[in-house]
Amino acid sequence: MKRGRIVGTGMSVPERVLTNADLERMVETTDEWILARTGIRERRIAAPDECLSSFAVPAARNALEMAGLKGSDVDLVICATVTPDQPFPATSTRIQDQIGAGRAAAFDLAAGCTGFVYGLSVAQQFLQTGWAKTALVVGGEVLSKIVDWKDRNTCVLFGDGAGAVVLRAEEDGDRGLLGTALRSDGSLAGLVELPGGGSREPHTLASLEGGRNFLKMRGSETFKIAVRSIAEISDEALTSCGLGHKDVTWFIPHQANRRIIEAVGQRLEVREGHTYINVDRFGNTSAASIPIGLDELNRGGKIHPGDILLFSAFGAGLTWGAAVVRW
Ligand code: ACO
Repeated sequence: MKRGRIVGTGMSVPERVLTNADLERMVETTDEWILARTGIRERRIAAPDECLSSFAVPAARNALEMAGLKGSDVDLVICATVTPDQPFPATSTRIQDQIGAGRAAAFDLAAGCTGFVYGLSVAQQFLQTGWAKTALVVGGEVLSKIVDWKDRNTCVLFGDGAGAVVLRAEEDGDRGLLGTALRSDGSLAGLVELPGGGSREPHTLASLEGGRNFLKMRGSETFKIAVRSIAEISDEALTSCGLGHKDVTWFIPHQANRRIIEAVGQRLEVREGHTYINVDRFGNTSAASIPIGLDELNRGGKIHPGDILLFSAFGAGLTWGAAVVRW
């Protein structure tokens, strides 16, 4: 059976570093609180003239370069994001243009922090049917543009950046994307949302004054559901591939909160030191967090042929999902 194999990874983050000490000067918070509750020390924040494609395009180029491929080899561009350059056209078409993927189909995919895992799963369907031979999946966010910098409950949590992978369809090999599991529950849409700016609640002067243009999150409720859901969906994805917890070489979870990651790691009994954590340096970059972590591990020479990687995420929607890869 055909499956997509990851042949290149890439990432790009803004230059500007915002530390917890910087935040202490902006809202009533402390480095101790942020570190203890989230594990975050610093995050990268886009400059005023930067947008999603400022990071998505270089991440895509890096992944293509590693794969030894050109933009013209790409048949499909998927950009997972909730912070596109603009509501439409899709940011994926900007990526398609700027990497020179003249023959590619392109669309954006909105599944919150689970977007990259959803993107991998969608790309796999195109690769398995033979519709595409090469797919580019980008996960990227510029959440700093929709965060209320006066709200200490949310502004300390998020960061900007993008990660990308190139997938090639391979026949009969045992390497590649082995399986995915995806879920959603729209009855909990209000836990993490951007209330205004869509057709449901177009912006008015009053809605802007009421802060409806900023991300809202009910953090502690989200936290509890996240731990349970990520553990369950990871189990389901592994089982569907005939694998168990002990087979996982690298667990690369969505980086929302160090405490969530550690709680899930314990439930999954991932081997000591085999859960990748970079939330301390980047904060929660939503759809970008898994491909950024993957690229760091890959370029650091920490992943070897045959290794089993488990990606798991949870986010706005609610959505959650997991993907299993044999490297
Ligand atoms: N500094 C100091 N105090 C703060 C801060 C801050 N930055 N933020 C909140 N507090 C206070 C609160 O006001 C509250 O005070 P109170 O008890 O007097 O009311 C207290 O700290 C505790 O607040 P909680 O919300 O209970 O803190 P919790 O331990 O749950 O941590 C956090 C909050 C970090 C947001 C956590 O709940 C979390 O990580 N949630 C999950 C996030 C997640 O998984 N998101 C994924 C989806 S995101 C997406 O898709 C874009």
